[in-house]
Amino acid sequence: MSNPPLVGIVMGSDSDWPVLRVCAETLKKFGVAYEARILSAHRTPDAALDYAATARQRGLKILIGAAGGAAHLAGVLAAKTELPVLAVPMPSKHLQGLDSLLSMVQMPGGIPVATFAIGEAGATNAALFAVAMLALGDAELARQLSDFRAQQTAKVLAKTLPDLP
Ligand code: RP5
Repeated sequence: MSNPPLVGIVMGSDSDWPVLRVCAETLKKFGVAYEARILSAHRTPDAALDYAATARQRGLKILIGAAGGAAHLAGVLAAKTELPVLAVPMPSKHLQGLDSLLSMVQMPGGIPVATFAIGEAGATNAALFAVAMLALGDAELARQLSDFRAQQTAKVLAKTLPDLP
């Protein structure tokens, strides 16, 4: 039987998945069990609220909310749970994700969401941040994160630039 999910990835639309896929792939690489759901703050508000309200009792430790445009999804999730909520702004058609970023990062005081970069970098880093939080109580996961960072460093240091013609 597979492990119960610790991280809930929630996206506003299936159109977010191509960007968010790397978030799921990163969690999978570290062996962190996750679930991914499409829930929208405006198209499925009751289901989104219910998901957040029951997240803790279902064993989830961290929620990742990703949405584009007037991206209130992460804030709405955070309003209904005390679990840490990480927010990933999706690139948007007309404002390239700046609207998503500002609507996530400018949460009024009292209900925090931790907002990451727009797009794939944010999706990757939200997963790595979730891993880092879970690693606080999991020595094996902490070792994996250390190895990942060391490998990343080695890869960059091994790179060379082409000579000029
Ligand atoms: C948001 O609106 C979604 O998170 C998505 O980023 C954006 C556009 O959604 P679709 O119109 O592609 O379904 O709710």
